[in-house]
Amino acid sequence: MVQTARWISRPLQLFESCQRRYGDSFTLRIARIPEMVITGDPGAARAIFGQDRDNTMAPGRTLVLEPVMGPRSVLLLEGAEHLAHRRLMLPPFHGERMRAYETLIAELTDREVASWPRGRPFKLHPRFQSLTLEVILSAVFGVEEGPRREELRELLRRVLRMTASTRMMAFGLFTRQLGRAGPYRSFQKLIDRTHAALATEIGERRADPALDSREDILSLLVAARFEDGSAMDDSDIRDQLMTLLLAGHETTATGLAWTFDLLFRNPEVMESLRARLGDDEGHEYVDAVAQEALRVRPVVPQVGRRLGKETQIGEWTLPAGTDVLLSIYLLHMQESLYPEPQRFRPERFLEGGPEPYSWVPFGGGVRRCLGAAFAQFEMRIVIERILAQVRLSPASDRPERIVRRNVTFSPKAGTPAIAETATLPRVGVLASPAGDRS
Ligand code: HEM
Repeated sequence: MVQTARWISRPLQLFESCQRRYGDSFTLRIARIPEMVITGDPGAARAIFGQDRDNTMAPGRTLVLEPVMGPRSVLLLEGAEHLAHRRLMLPPFHGERMRAYETLIAELTDREVASWPRGRPFKLHPRFQSLTLEVILSAVFGVEEGPRREELRELLRRVLRMTASTRMMAFGLFTRQLGRAGPYRSFQKLIDRTHAALATEIGERRADPALDSREDILSLLVAARFEDGSAMDDSDIRDQLMTLLLAGHETTATGLAWTFDLLFRNPEVMESLRARLGDDEGHEYVDAVAQEALRVRPVVPQVGRRLGKETQIGEWTLPAGTDVLLSIYLLHMQESLYPEPQRFRPERFLEGGPEPYSWVPFGGGVRRCLGAAFAQFEMRIVIERILAQVRLSPASDRPERIVRRNVTFSPKAGTPAIAETATLPRVGVLASPAGDRS
């Protein structure tokens, strides 16, 4: 029970203390989830992701995510069905298709930055949550400004608030079997209303004669076909929309919040960044800053798998059927992979980059994040647009503490900052990004 409480509220500290006592791999028992092996071994990501087609997901994922994402979510499907969904969903998140969202993200960022107070403290994390939600409403849902967008925004905000709560998570783990009582019933009502709103959007999109000329991801999903020529039905699409919202919103907002917290604690990096903005070298440096931030503060600090065959991790030989949780955080803190691992040094990513399977903030194998390229693209545009318009400084001397919000780990105080208007002479317009490197 004590272990479960620590796993829910402070897992990184729990893992670090276990690592100090038992080494890079150890076992843990959590309520309602079978015993699992936790590992931050330097070779663990290669061992697990290298054979990912044989693995399945660890059981905890479904328990926590299914009530809100739905049973057809790509995050929860397995085997051939999972791969077919990935193939169908990946194109809009890559290459030219993805770059079509550049102007949109830049404009939404500019609008967001314009609303920030000048000269007095405010919290960055909620501002980034609001921005990434707007990006999803436009790029993924394709909903225009107006009462429909407002209704959907409000419903989705409430869903996001409820899913972020650790209390709800504990409640889900311990009491779901008691039936749809108390907070769980109001949660279910909210999900039902949100599903109804999404059903209307999907229905209208199907009937839209201009469907082919639309660029939002919902339209692309409606028009897309599996390899056998069949299409996704409405409940399938709805589950993917909920998944993209939940997987893509909080994660990117939190990645941005941590990036600025780390820049605040490392003013020399902030200055290098500002000095290089506006040219191609600048884009590379911004990407390196975001990559280093996702290394030091991986937003999703662990991913699970049930091993499909016997696997060697460090000195351990794990039989097929073992549940393994790869601690991305412990892996990213390995001295052998990253000298002075606690130091925030983006240059690491300019000097040839990390070894394969040593930088895994987006997971890996057949379940690697579908939105990895999109998220890094979005982070780059947002960071560049912000620095072009305001000079941000920390509103607190203390580095942020880490707090769990469901599967993500966020800055506890919300990254308090102060913005002053500042125009960098060399960054008038957004230069064209050099392309994603994931
Ligand atoms: C900084 C931002 C993000 C981080 C750190 C992140 C991280 C992750 C991680 C760790 C996984 C699990 C991978 C695994 O099990 O190996 C994942 C899966 C996923 N992510 Fe992201 N993500 C981010 C942004 C996004 C965005 C913007 C989207 C889409 C809008 C997205 C959509 C997904 C989907 C659909 C999956 C499920 C993939 C599958 O199971 O096949 N993510 N993400």
